[in-house]
Amino acid sequence: EPGTDPRQDLDGVVVVVSAGGTREALDPVRYLGNRSSGKQGVAIAEAAAARGADVVLVAGAVDIRLPDHPRIVTRRIESALDLQAQLADLSKDADVIIMAAAVADFRPRHVATAKIKKTHGQGADGGPDESAPTIELVRNPDILAELVRERHRQGGQVPYIVGFAAETGDAEHSVLELAQDKLRRKGCDLLVVNQVGVGVTFGQDDNTVTILRRDGGAPVTAGPTTKTRVSHALLDVIATELRR
Ligand code: CTP
Ligand code: CA
Repeated sequence: EPGTDPRQDLDGVVVVVSAGGTREALDPVRYLGNRSSGKQGVAIAEAAAARGADVVLVAGAVDIRLPDHPRIVTRRIESALDLQAQLADLSKDADVIIMAAAVADFRPRHVATAKIKKTHGQGADGGPDESAPTIELVRNPDILAELVRERHRQGGQVPYIVGFAAETGDAEHSVLELAQDKLRRKGCDLLVVNQVGVGVTFGQDDNTVTILRRDGGAPVTAGPTTKTRVSHALLDVIATELRR
């Protein structure tokens, strides 16, 4: 049943949310993918619709059911390039873009038109080549950074652009240090930071996030709590910013 929230603070606001993982094809039956479940992005779409927004959910690979809500239109995408093309179209009418999708940083340079076989071609000894193939990768565009650059070119403040950061931290830098750098690099308005790893965040129902702001305002933390509550905390920040 479509949820409605007493707050209708996003009434008439067009919110585009990307969710789930991209799949980068190797051949007609194989792809490179990732562990994103799509739960956080879908939760944001549902929470925004409940608060009155008109939502477009751009969904990659998700392992949950897609929402059925009168104010959510869903478009499916497979690869990062598909996602970029959809967003280029949608960004013209969007008030807010939230990039919750897990976009592959790289894709195979070549997509085989037929299934790649275990033995391929002829080996040095004249027999079948049993060696393992090498997959060459190329960089995907940084869709989020491109959206920010395009807004800059248009000279406007719209759409309001929100990124997510999947960070594990490393020996030298904490999750938040890496995220601050990422926010500066991407130039988006908000960066929602969470820790990732197998069984941590990915696929779980709960999440803990820190929302960093480009304008230097104090970070907002939410959780550990449900991805629905995290969504509302994020939308609280966005709704406040849109009113300014
Ligand atoms: N993103 C994007 N296009 C890409 C890669 C990421 O739009 N090609 C977006 C994601 O949807 C997310 C944000 O950028 O909102 C940050 O993604 P993340 O993977 O954390 O950052 P990267 O810049 O790819 O850096 P790295 O993976 O090296 O940490
Ligand atoms: Ca990445």
